[in-house]
Amino acid sequence: MGRLLRLLDGHEELRAALRAHQEAVAAGDLEAARTAWDRFHARLDAHSRAEDELLLPRLAAGGPTSVGGGVELFDREHRKLRRLAAAAHRRIHDAAVGELPPGLRVDWIEALHVLKELLAHHDERERAALHPVLEDRLGAAEADELARRCSDREAELAAAWTGPLGADVVEGPRSAS
Ligand SMILES: [Fe+2]
Ligand SMILES: [Fe+2]
Repeated sequence: MGRLLRLLDGHEELRAALRAHQEAVAAGDLEAARTAWDRFHARLDAHSRAEDELLLPRLAAGGPTSVGGGVELFDREHRKLRRLAAAAHRRIHDAAVGELPPGLRVDWIEALHVLKELLAHHDERERAALHPVLEDRLGAAEADELARRCSDREAELAAAWTGPLGADVVEGPRSAS
């Protein structure tokens, strides 16, 4: 399997990171829940931004694909994931509670349902219409090099993450509307 396809393993790590947050919520450990949330959120933002910067322009450069997807779809889904994550971030960090009462634990876990569903759909679409398309189009050496740059950029962005991305990244430039 090429290195570009192995980037998709990052989706499994994202799922595991989100689950770690939910397990801390279920256990009522607010501090651990916030720490785990930030770990997930940083990785999600870094992962989607690295794709925006490095993978989507290469997909666009190759023209339309025969397998659906397309740059606009991936871009739209990344923005929606960031919007949902930013809303969850506010809920998790702004709650004026010292501990997590059982009702709030259930609310927080249920509130992530839409984000989890979108992550699952997005994984399917990238598996079908992003990474394999680039791998086919670029050839092994170039695809491996692109994958290496994408992983490095993701690690760099995750390490520099200090909170939800600004509205310009989440919503797109104002002039676009
Ligand atoms: Fe991805
Ligand atoms: Fe993505």
